[in-house]
Amino acid sequence: MTSLFPRNFGQRYIEVERGEGLYLFGKDGRAYLDAAAGAISANIGYGVQEVAASIHEQTSKLPFAHASYWTAEINERAASLVAELAPGGMNLVWFVNSGSEAMEAAIKMARQYFIEKEGKGTSRSLVIGRQNGYHGSSLGTLAIGGNVVRRRHFLPMLFDQPKIETHYCYRCPYGLEKPSCGIRCAAELEKTIRRIGPQYVAAFVAEPIVGSTVGALVPPDEYWPMVREICSRYDVLLIADEVMTGCGRTGKNFCVDHWGVKPDLIATAKGLAASYYPVGAVIVSDHVGEVFRNGSGVFAHSHTFNGMPAASAAVVAVLEYMKRHGLVENAARMGKLIEMEIAPELQKMPLVGEVRGKGLMWGIELVRDKETRAPFDAAEDAGGKLKALALERGMTLYPGKAMADGVNGDNIMIGPPLTAGEKDVRKIFEILTDSLQSLQKQLKF
Ligand SMILES: Cc1ncc(COP(=O)(O)O)c(C=O)c1O
Repeated sequence: MTSLFPRNFGQRYIEVERGEGLYLFGKDGRAYLDAAAGAISANIGYGVQEVAASIHEQTSKLPFAHASYWTAEINERAASLVAELAPGGMNLVWFVNSGSEAMEAAIKMARQYFIEKEGKGTSRSLVIGRQNGYHGSSLGTLAIGGNVVRRRHFLPMLFDQPKIETHYCYRCPYGLEKPSCGIRCAAELEKTIRRIGPQYVAAFVAEPIVGSTVGALVPPDEYWPMVREICSRYDVLLIADEVMTGCGRTGKNFCVDHWGVKPDLIATAKGLAASYYPVGAVIVSDHVGEVFRNGSGVFAHSHTFNGMPAASAAVVAVLEYMKRHGLVENAARMGKLIEMEIAPELQKMPLVGEVRGKGLMWGIELVRDKETRAPFDAAEDAGGKLKALALERGMTLYPGKAMADGVNGDNIMIGPPLTAGEKDVRKIFEILTDSLQSLQKQLKF
């Protein structure tokens, strides 16, 4: 009998012993190719001894120093490396311990920004999110998200934050097509701000490429410049949730760099210390920082483990490793290979509706009928079956579901460590194709 409260009491978990590169080694004697980098998070692969050594060294010297008293040189270095990666004019970094915490801090920072600027009576408190968005599992972040599955049980506990539709062009919520749609999903942000009244809106939050909820959903190129412009026009803060897309995952330092957009706040985590340490961050625009500096000076939010030196050691070691090995550039190169050679082949399979992504963040949407784009019935659990078939073949995937209509819809994500080379990428997609062929037989195509 185990004392561990598992994620799923009905699942048998493989006991894992160690990791090296792209592989995890189970006690069952098998090597597993981690095509999902854990949760699209183990960005430099496993077993990088210099990172482990940096964390060990810092932990031996000083693991923790409470941020109400202390700063440490390693924290300063971590912050300046993160600021260097970020778009220009975003030079302040607030460290946390996870993606949910980064997003929670970002939305609270947005609210307090208006208190500092307009006084305690400010009415700016709402945060506009999107259907099919995911920003974390805390109650505050679930409230701004639109992931039906993750919100369902907790709905009565969630504050009702406004939502707009996402740029789900494959299933356009307005039944429109590009380019004649005029990017209605972005224009809808302005309508919503006006309907609510801009004086009540503190921020708009979005993932630059939607992660696991829809499966690497890339926006039209016009989308981010448009929402930036709308937010600026109504003095609404733009928060980019780069928890998954940040730190090189999509082939740029941050995903917003694909469109040259500077948000007011960026939340990041996952790849920041590449899963060697639980750490996240809010990257803050100078103009937002100035309002705090010239106001109360105090962000009314904290956690015991904000800015732990041991976490900062992990951030510094990982970001330096990434720079030395050119991993952002590698992600961009691998992304091009997938886009030009691999995705078009995969796209031909009868149950593949759409293949989409950038860098080393790719999503495959599964469909029952390619012509009508009808999803599989949720009861068929196509994504779960595909995950099992890939695992039989020694590979992990990252599945998501219910995005087509809130009940049905299956997608899987491929997001290996950014160290994956051409041979690894080709192997991943070979195993995926083989798994998809088996799934086709299972589901009687
Ligand atoms: C876009 C996005 N935001 C926030 C989170 C929450 O991060 P965490 O699981 O570290 O709390 C995730 C996690 O998957 C994510 O993908």
